[in-house]
Amino acid sequence: MQSKPVILVGRKLPEAVEARLASDYDAILNADDTLYSADDLIAKSEGVDGILPCHSEHLSAEVISKLSDSVKIIANFSVGYDHVDTAAAKERGIVVTNTPDVLSDATAEIAMLLMLGAARRASEGERLVRSAAWKDWSPAFMVGTQVTGKRFGVIGMGRVGRVTASRARGFDMDVHYFNRNKLSDDLEAGATFHANVDELLANADVLSIHCPATPETTGLLNAEKIDKLPDGAVVVNTSRGAVVNDDDLIAALKSGKVAAAGLDVFNGEPLDIHPGYRELDNVFLLPHIGSATHETRDAMGYRALDNLDAFFAGKEPNDRVA
Ligand code: DGY
Repeated sequence: MQSKPVILVGRKLPEAVEARLASDYDAILNADDTLYSADDLIAKSEGVDGILPCHSEHLSAEVISKLSDSVKIIANFSVGYDHVDTAAAKERGIVVTNTPDVLSDATAEIAMLLMLGAARRASEGERLVRSAAWKDWSPAFMVGTQVTGKRFGVIGMGRVGRVTASRARGFDMDVHYFNRNKLSDDLEAGATFHANVDELLANADVLSIHCPATPETTGLLNAEKIDKLPDGAVVVNTSRGAVVNDDDLIAALKSGKVAAAGLDVFNGEPLDIHPGYRELDNVFLLPHIGSATHETRDAMGYRALDNLDAFFAGKEPNDRVA
């Protein structure tokens, strides 16, 4: 009998996904959900045919250069793959895949939660009730920003951006977007395309970031760009922290240029996020849980496994990114 490919699994995965892994592969599972360091990944790659990491495992150029020669594929359990140096993987002939589509609904839900939570001061209100500091009610109490009927600006109108835009239409919001390319009419669904980001920003009462973190998008939302937003805009980020310049966003939140921000992703997450965010009342902060639903976690795992299955069957994986 031919031996099964050996797969190193980065984190603890849903039961059903681990069951499929264990039945189809010689899986090295991570039952304790230990966060593997660069050295762990390198040491554990010995004799491994494929790695199934999450975005919490950093496969930098250096790590990739030291992985065992046996590694042929990195099948990510994530749509974002900025944690993998794809150029280094390519150079070593290692295939890289991701898990698009399956997390769009879950992430759009969190984008809506962040939008409403930020605009309607949910974090502040929740803390008042929880800490028994709520003493009074008056028309001037906890007044926030209404989003209904406002302009919803999307940077990156890919799968997640489009689903989020469609949810925003549920609040009668007028969708505007900036994307590398203008979408076809059916994908646009009535949204207004802006060929440059400044024009989009000027039309974004709520700005929702959905572009991947790349060298081009790193620090994109800086002071100069924030200045283009309408006064009192709301900023939502479910993509990657790297797209935002934290100092500049925090300054805008302090000045009121940006009324509020809802953030699920951060530079330096989880341990080293900008401390300025923790001190602000007008932010609604979540710990990178855009795709954290039971349904989506299963679907992400199956999608990663479909990519592994195709690869080891000698076919092109559907979600190859390098
Ligand atoms: C993704 O899939 O990129 C999410 O951010 C979780 O890793």
